[in-house]
Amino acid sequence: MPVIRQMDQRLANMIAAGEVVDRPASVIKELMENAIDAHATQVSVDVFDMGMKKMIVTDNGVGMDQIDAKMAFSRHATSKIKDEFDLSHIQTLGFRGEALAAIASVSKVLLKTRQEHGEGFFVSFEGGHFVTEGLATLNKGTVVEVSDLFYNTPARFKYIKSDLAEKIQIIDLFDRIALANPNIRFALFMDGKKIKETYGNGDFYQLIDHIYGSRMTKGMIVFHETVQKIKIDGYLLAPSIARSRKKDISIFVNGRYIKNYALVQAVIEGYHSFMMVGKFPIALIHIAIDPSLLDVNVHPQKYEIKFVNEMILAYHIESFVKRALLMEKHEIVEGKDIIDKKIETENYTPIQFEFHDVLENTIPLEEEKTRMHKLPDMSYVGVFFGTYLIFQNEEGMFLVDQHAAAERVRYEHYAHALSHPTKARKMMLLERPLDLTDQDQNFLKHHLQAFNDLGFGFTEDMHLNQMPTWLRDEEVDIALEACLVMLEENNHIDLQKLRDTLAKDISCKGAIKANKALSILEIEALMKQLQVCENPYHCPHGRPTIVKLTHYDIERMFKRVV
Ligand SMILES: Nc1ncnc2c1ncn2[C@@H]1O[C@H](COP(=O)(O)OP(=O)(O)OP(=O)(O)O)[C@@H](O)[C@H]1O
Ligand SMILES: [Mg+2]
Repeated sequence: MPVIRQMDQRLANMIAAGEVVDRPASVIKELMENAIDAHATQVSVDVFDMGMKKMIVTDNGVGMDQIDAKMAFSRHATSKIKDEFDLSHIQTLGFRGEALAAIASVSKVLLKTRQEHGEGFFVSFEGGHFVTEGLATLNKGTVVEVSDLFYNTPARFKYIKSDLAEKIQIIDLFDRIALANPNIRFALFMDGKKIKETYGNGDFYQLIDHIYGSRMTKGMIVFHETVQKIKIDGYLLAPSIARSRKKDISIFVNGRYIKNYALVQAVIEGYHSFMMVGKFPIALIHIAIDPSLLDVNVHPQKYEIKFVNEMILAYHIESFVKRALLMEKHEIVEGKDIIDKKIETENYTPIQFEFHDVLENTIPLEEEKTRMHKLPDMSYVGVFFGTYLIFQNEEGMFLVDQHAAAERVRYEHYAHALSHPTKARKMMLLERPLDLTDQDQNFLKHHLQAFNDLGFGFTEDMHLNQMPTWLRDEEVDIALEACLVMLEENNHIDLQKLRDTLAKDISCKGAIKANKALSILEIEALMKQLQVCENPYHCPHGRPTIVKLTHYDIERMFKRVV
């Protein structure tokens, strides 16, 4: 006897709902996206009891007529696409025609809607069943009220985490949608209290301050670039506003917030030597791309996207971020900002090296002359704590961390040496066997050309007999190890990454000891070299090298001014 039967629509919707609606925040996401697709310019979200009691999303978009208002709750009913061509050219946030059906199958929904020139209607559903419909009075737009979420799916109800967790999810979701849509005015209320609001006037400075807190955009760096018809706009908050989590790096593609590891990583790499280890920036990257180069239909919640050439995009984003940060000339952190923001330095362990290292191997003189001097003219006053060099000029007082400064200088020296890899090599007086496992030796043999390009040479029995002139004997092992690690991880040597790792590792092998007394000549040499660094403001780990206390700040400390 046959046992397979066709499910009814309502049961199918309930099952499918699990993928679209897994918590209150995902209901709000779907409703806000529908409002945006309906060309709303104002969207307001009201949440009661963290969404478990009720969620109301009100928009002033195009609205629906009576037939559509009811039809909108059928599964696979959408006004947004009609054929395969449309599916590969998605211009809207929604297109699957399942969100309202899914929401209605696990809650009680009342939808009211009115088009510009027409009457208002309402329609209501409970647990996927149509309940009633009729005329309603409202302004142009749509109001969707979702109550008693998961009332008929107790297992899902139990899965909901703490109130706080839901609150964080809702605010997070609201923030991203608001950040993705600078021209729409959004407001979020929780239990009747206004939590957040944006103005929708297209001003990213205002928008970001509204979302992240006032004055967060101080020092924000913005870039607008286009590559191969892909527009990439970056809003990079100052590196001094460091976060412990990556989640404030937001990537938007055609107005949709997406989760994409490679692109987030590209932003992190771009900020790399400006941030402390283990810290992450706040940054928004808006990408506008021909929809036919994307596949949004990867997951019902549409947070994932498949790109053609994702890695190339990542490469460009990394270099745009890096370039934008490097071009910023006013990176000296102000002392009071540091204290206010409690920059954490606990992850930082200075490794010490001798000072004479800094004096050798500087950036070539011809290039040094053409480099911009990024630090102000200052005169030396003295040293505090054997570590902080004190300078002054008419603007105020500057403290330079001699250790961090020396590390930066060494880092850039090596980064420079490694970015212009001359093939100049020197023969070693004594060949050296390599202290490597068989596997590592095999790797090395496999990539001999890359090692040769860097200036290493090996005898037939894999003894090292040549090394690049820019490397010093005691650094050979670090360099080889870094290459091998990279080979093991990626199976190829990414020269750019290798350069960076090497420069960091080597420069880290020491800096002027924190409390080593320097002669005036040594201080002058150090400052001269710091002056021409590409980024003289931070050590390679992102700690500040130089901090400024303005004349005004000092006068204020002594209450001479208010
Ligand atoms: N706020 C709204 N204003 C105007 N029309 C709406 C609104 N919300 C929904 N609709 C209409 O109802 C239809 C169904 O909405 P639903 O969210 O279920 O599917 P979708 O947005 O088309 O696709 P997806 O399931 O990917 O969200 C939409 O295509 C749209 O025509
Ligand atoms: Mg939708």
